[in-house]
Amino acid sequence: MSLLLLLFTLLASASLSVAEIRSTQIRSDARPLILLDEFGFTHRGQLELNVSHLSLSGSTPDPPELSKVGFFLCTIDAWAHVLQQIEDAQINCVLKSDVIKRVFTFAQLPSPSAAAFNFSYAESSADQYTLIFANCLPQLKVSMNVRSAMYNLEGGRSNRRDYLSAGKTILPRVYFLLSLIYFIMAALWINVLYKKRSTVFGIHFFMLAVVLLKTLNLLCEAEDKSYIKRTGSAHGWDVLFYIFSFLKGITLFSLIVLIGTGWSFLKPYLQDKEKKVLMIVIPLQVIANIAQVVIDETGPFGADWIAWKQVFLLVDVICCCAVLFPIVWSIKNLREAAKTDGKAAVNLMKLTLFRQYYIVVICYIYFTRVVVYALETITSYKYFWTSVVAGELATLAFYIFTGYKFRPEVHNPYFVIDDEEEEAAAEQLKLEDEFEL
Ligand SMILES: *[C@@H]1O[C@H](CO)[C@@H](O)[C@H](O)[C@H]1NC(C)=O
Ligand SMILES: *[C@@H]1O[C@H](CO)[C@@H](O)[C@H](O)[C@H]1NC(C)=O
Repeated sequence: MSLLLLLFTLLASASLSVAEIRSTQIRSDARPLILLDEFGFTHRGQLELNVSHLSLSGSTPDPPELSKVGFFLCTIDAWAHVLQQIEDAQINCVLKSDVIKRVFTFAQLPSPSAAAFNFSYAESSADQYTLIFANCLPQLKVSMNVRSAMYNLEGGRSNRRDYLSAGKTILPRVYFLLSLIYFIMAALWINVLYKKRSTVFGIHFFMLAVVLLKTLNLLCEAEDKSYIKRTGSAHGWDVLFYIFSFLKGITLFSLIVLIGTGWSFLKPYLQDKEKKVLMIVIPLQVIANIAQVVIDETGPFGADWIAWKQVFLLVDVICCCAVLFPIVWSIKNLREAAKTDGKAAVNLMKLTLFRQYYIVVICYIYFTRVVVYALETITSYKYFWTSVVAGELATLAFYIFTGYKFRPEVHNPYFVIDDEEEEAAAEQLKLEDEFEL
């Protein structure tokens, strides 16, 4: 339970920055602060603001003090400073602070009745910034459409724009490299299946499907991210990416459940309660994937972002817990069988395998959910990619472990057991029972 709580707090505090061109509509809004977007600038950062349909209303002193309304950029550290300044009554409006980067105040409007403006701003000190709209006039209501684009200019003479935040700019290459690794793994697996075709079970083809879907998912993610990097918009291969994420999510969780039940290599059928686990996990994965799409598309400051994030988290936690049940049942069944059918050594081997699998699944879930979020939160924005790499390496290790431990075997080790080993195993099982009591 404490694990879930930890997970929850970490996720709530982790700020994921989505680096794309963002459009925000603000209607008769009197909020003093409106968070718009987040981005990690290099020393050649640029911000482009295009505001249209601008209108101000409400009972304000005439003429309103428009220098107290406008856009600014702020780092987390500077924000703590600003709060202190306001508390000490040194300033009466965020926009008057000297630690923020003022981008545009409405005093700069070409005329007080202007309904649209374009503005661009260059930022040369590298950091992670949040773009915020501030309105320090309590009676003033603002309506406008804001299009904000933040990007870094690439080095060299090309001056090409890079719409991915500083710590994410190498992600397309990371994903591409990983998809190559999975592609090679799929090829190796096909080779193994072919060589040991006499001992291949249905589950082994299922494993192949999972690896292939993971390959395609990573390939689409690489293309999607590199499209965002070049254009600032996500509409390259994003639909394909979501489709493959969805299929990969469903098949991976089903695979963990099926292996956990021992389906196809221990027994050819599923029990009712095992089928129920699948019937819970699959629809939940559908919900998780819908939530993920909404989360990605709205960005961290969009309406309902937090709600969807919580839905995703809850569903994910339920799925992770559900997949553990079949493994626990199998371990229990194997222990029972060991006592009754007199093949202690065989059952002990299977038992050890399932116990290892149980521990590895827990480690995998813990690492990709908790450790990765912790890394995301504590590392500097510049090294955001390290948390992605850590999570993907853990996943890779999990795939390799699963494939290796449950590979098709020509020489069934269960048949080459002599009496001595059999006795030793029976002894160990007896010992374990005593400990449990
Ligand atoms: C802003 O830029 C766009 C595209 O360059 C242009 O069509 C529009 O007229 C500009 N608006 C203003 C107010 O300058
Ligand atoms: C936004 O404003 C910039 C100038 O600040 C201009 O170059 C660009 O064309 C504008 N884009 C749109 C879509 O209006």
